[in-house]
Amino acid sequence: MRLFTPYDVTKESDMLMPLEFTRANRLMHVDKTYKAEITNIIRLTEMEKLFHIRIINEEERARFSFLPGQFVMLELPGYGEVPISISGSPSNRGYIELCIRKAGIVTSILHKARRGAKVGIRGPFGNSFPMEKMKGNNILLIAGGLGMAPLRAPLFYVTENRSEYQDVHILYGTRTPDQLLFTYQYDEWKRIDDINLQIIVEKPDITWSGKVGMITKLLDELPIKPLETYAIVCGPPVMFKFVCNRLRQFGIPMHRMFVSLERRMHCGMGKCCRCNIGSTFICVDGPVFDYWSVLNLKEAI
Ligand SMILES: Cc1cc2nc3c(=O)[nH]c(=O)nc-3n(C[C@H](O)[C@H](O)[C@H](O)COP(=O)(O)OP(=O)(O)OC[C@H]3O[C@@H](n4cnc5c(N)ncnc54)[C@H](O)[C@@H]3O)c2cc1C
Ligand code: FES
Repeated sequence: MRLFTPYDVTKESDMLMPLEFTRANRLMHVDKTYKAEITNIIRLTEMEKLFHIRIINEEERARFSFLPGQFVMLELPGYGEVPISISGSPSNRGYIELCIRKAGIVTSILHKARRGAKVGIRGPFGNSFPMEKMKGNNILLIAGGLGMAPLRAPLFYVTENRSEYQDVHILYGTRTPDQLLFTYQYDEWKRIDDINLQIIVEKPDITWSGKVGMITKLLDELPIKPLETYAIVCGPPVMFKFVCNRLRQFGIPMHRMFVSLERRMHCGMGKCCRCNIGSTFICVDGPVFDYWSVLNLKEAI
């Protein structure tokens, strides 16, 4: 499945350009590394930090735009490059927000970086969540663990365009309370009209007074209207199965559920064959897929 996402959506006519043209056009722009610097670092948990990254050249910064669900390749000079979902609001043109877990070589070095460190940015890459198509519907934003990182961009989009959507439910689950990301924003989200934020953890500690259990437990408490609802599900692949299958039991069609897939990537632009599953390239045809397409991609999850 190929969702249409031009590099820089500025006017309606861009949205109507033929896919191949748009794709080539996009690659022309993204085969370039922007010089950038880390302007702020926010420690979210033991393992995750939020980095604010500013493209140094003003013109390039103004030109850089992205859609919810897209990712960038972040280069740490001398160490390597990693694909990271853009976690901020598409309307924030001042800096790019990346929420990064300390996983291996590059991300561990990055966690030691200080404000002012120079990095490179390529992108944005990939397709996006179909936020336009979802307008007028109820929205379920469901994240498990680090899944809150890619979910945050569509979440910003929905809250900044609140009148375009019906009821919005944010469901977020982690294993333990200390793994919850962006805790400082929960009050802000809850204050937005008709936004229902529900948090659950699997293993509570003595500080936890909230809900306990698997994230699917939160679904059971929702008044779901299946044919008026779209769902975005981000998290570990095993969670997709549980959550999406539960949503199917509620009658939500599979083409109304969207997930973001992760694969090891190198080029990010369909050239190196690192991320493909058969003829589907996760970096270009994804990372966003509807659940029907995911089930038809062998070993995608
Ligand atoms: C489209 C996309 C979006 C992503 N968004 C984010 C994000 O927002 N925040 C974030 O923290 N991480 C994200 N990741 C994962 C991130 O790219 C990897 O954690 C990173 O590349 C690890 O690099 P490293 O050099 O630190 O680790 P390495 O030393 O290369 O590897 C450390 C461990 O992580 C595993 N690993 C590496 N890359 C991946 C991968 N792509 N998927 C699964 N396992 C992997 C390796 O097998 C190894 O076990 C994303 C990945 C993709 C493909
Ligand atoms: S990362 Fe190179 S083809 Fe997808």
